[in-house]
Amino acid sequence: MTEGGPLVMDAETLEAYRDDFLRHLAQTVPGRKELVIERARGSVLFAADGKRYLDMISGIGVSNVGHCHPDVVRAIKEQAERFAHVNVYGRFVLPPQVDLVRRLTSVTPRGLDVAFLTSTGTEAIEGALKLARKYTGRPKFVAFERAFHGRTLGSLSVSWKQAYRAPFEPLLPEVEFVPFDDVDRAAEAIDERTAAVIVEPIQGEGGVRIPSDGFLQALRRLCTERGALLICDEVQGGMGRSGRWFSFEHWGIVPDVVVAAKALGGGLPLGAFVSTQEIFQTFLDPPLSHLTTFGGNPISCAAAIAAFDVIRREGLVERAASLGARLEERLRNVQLEHAGTITEVRGRGLWYAVDVSPPELAMPLVAEMQRRGVIVGSMLHADGTIRIAPPLTVLEAELDVLIGVLRASLRELGRAR
Ligand SMILES: Cc1ncc(COP(=O)(O)O)c(C=O)c1O
Repeated sequence: MTEGGPLVMDAETLEAYRDDFLRHLAQTVPGRKELVIERARGSVLFAADGKRYLDMISGIGVSNVGHCHPDVVRAIKEQAERFAHVNVYGRFVLPPQVDLVRRLTSVTPRGLDVAFLTSTGTEAIEGALKLARKYTGRPKFVAFERAFHGRTLGSLSVSWKQAYRAPFEPLLPEVEFVPFDDVDRAAEAIDERTAAVIVEPIQGEGGVRIPSDGFLQALRRLCTERGALLICDEVQGGMGRSGRWFSFEHWGIVPDVVVAAKALGGGLPLGAFVSTQEIFQTFLDPPLSHLTTFGGNPISCAAAIAAFDVIRREGLVERAASLGARLEERLRNVQLEHAGTITEVRGRGLWYAVDVSPPELAMPLVAEMQRRGVIVGSMLHADGTIRIAPPLTVLEAELDVLIGVLRASLRELGRAR
């Protein structure tokens, strides 16, 4: 996949972009960046030096319908010609917001039919935490080891990794972390001070970790018994990624609040937290209890509507399940061939984590695969783990390339060691 596109920038222009990226954009990861992106279509990124790359991480779980799906592009253009922003959230009736939440609440469990729209995932998590505190009048949150919910102060408070938390303390008080998948420890932590338990039903940044059957059902029961809300963070796992619209569906539970973002916006910034009419009543007292300027931006909503309809029409939820099962089988075959290096393959739908040993091999493997034209990634809360999460529209032939490049890269790194 590394050859074939037109050279759209000369070497000097390319270098100037790389230089000024480092000079003027705040850096959070050290090092010079090679790829200058010119275009993206489907699962393919076109770099400005003429090379092509397969995007096997979907811009971190965003491009579930592929890049620049024609329906999404058309919807964005049409809405941009009508209106973009007209007022702060909730003042006027905006048909794109209504058309979107009609769709969104048609796939959330019965009763969860009210959504507050935001711009990002972390902002939707903040809203969900505030909603739980205000509705219950309680201060405490129970969260899980390896959890990731975002980078603003509230969402960071319920995210686990100490290295990301410590520099910003003090964070929210009364957050208790318990091991993921440990019902007994959760039962000890959830008490009469708990406003909510917040959980990714399948942990994303923790390394695509799938709980045992019974874990989420137990959380549901404990929350109901003790008067706490159950918040399911579906920011990464939602919109078909796991082979269901939302990953909690694998266990048949009904949360009190569902949080979505990333793929929800079809590539544009959009998030939502969805709950019941009764729970949301609390935001009316006092009026304007929670607000945002850009949440539910009409152009983002138009893109989201188009993406939603693509997922439905193209059967992408079912496709993620069936294609994902085949991908898993193929990843397991690679594991058998490289048993010393690949220690575990975990996932559901088109969402996989591949653990490598030693863990220091992960970044060289990501780099070698990129050199060979395939973009995979690492994970925030799992060292030595490779992220594979292609668009749900990915072609089988593109998965062939992914597997071929993974094999070739492992062989190459094996030779080098
Ligand atoms: C599970 C989960 N929750 C929340 C977030 C935060 O979303 P955003 O980056 O849009 O703020 C992320 C981002 O990766 C996520 O994976």
